[in-house]
Amino acid sequence: MRYKFIILPVVLILLACNAEKGNKQSSGQTTAEVASTKPVHTEGYELMRQKCLICHMEKPDPAKRENMLAPPMVKVQEHYKPSFPDKQAFVDVITKWVLNPAEENTRMPGAVRRFKLMPKLPYEESEIRQIAAVLYDYDFGRMPDMHGAMKMELSLNKGQKWQLNPQTLWVIEEIKRELAAAPPAEDIASWNQLGRDVFSRAKTILMDKSYSGDLYQQLHNFFGGIEGHMHLLIAARDIKNARKQRDALIKKFESLGNYFE
Ligand code: HEC
Repeated sequence: MRYKFIILPVVLILLACNAEKGNKQSSGQTTAEVASTKPVHTEGYELMRQKCLICHMEKPDPAKRENMLAPPMVKVQEHYKPSFPDKQAFVDVITKWVLNPAEENTRMPGAVRRFKLMPKLPYEESEIRQIAAVLYDYDFGRMPDMHGAMKMELSLNKGQKWQLNPQTLWVIEEIKRELAAAPPAEDIASWNQLGRDVFSRAKTILMDKSYSGDLYQQLHNFFGGIEGHMHLLIAARDIKNARKQRDALIKKFESLGNYFE
């Protein structure tokens, strides 16, 4: 809560400065940048630059890892687009988020843990919609090589399994049970719902404040390994693919027992 009170005045000042020097900066872009990112000249992009890129960077920058205030925009796009492949639905969900960021709606629990919840900002809905449409279309280009910066492999705790609390163990059992009880074969909507259910349960583990340090990092790594499958299950259009994602999730949750108890 305190975070919001500090950050909001800072942001408002930044916003005011940004609005003034707006055009000057965008004309300073290199030709390479312009060539690789189509919607850069649009009003929507300009709005995103002024209202979102003050906290969010476009893409991860290994040199600025320690100074980040929010997840890079490309990561936001990666987390939302697979679950909302339809542009209108994507714009709706992003707009809803910006108008009212709430922990129970996060799709990036790791980011909430790391950066604290995004503050509610006094933006016009029509502007947010324009920004969200750009975020959907925007091609962030090639990712910088972050090798070493983000190791996602699981490892033991000095040869021992990591100790989880009873609440987490219960959530894991519930997820396994849900995954094992397959929804009716022909009903894709209930497979998508299964993906959403698993996601919201798995999220509570990552949001558990009793985990920190190396143990939290290991949980984060595990989450990183299942995230893609959950997104694809939520967005699956055919049963075959849904089944594939569910099977992958079952395997991952089985292997969890090798590292955690
Ligand atoms: C004051 C800094 C700040 C500004 C300005 C800001 N954000 Fe954020 N945003 C954050 C932080 C911190 C997070 C990570 C924590 C979280 O997800 O709540 C975040 C996360 C997000 C997420 C992921 C939500 C989730 O958790 O699933 C979306 C989507 C997002 N921002 C969109 C935007 C858009 C669009 C704008 C511009 C209209 C914007 N943000 C402006 C700080 C900011």
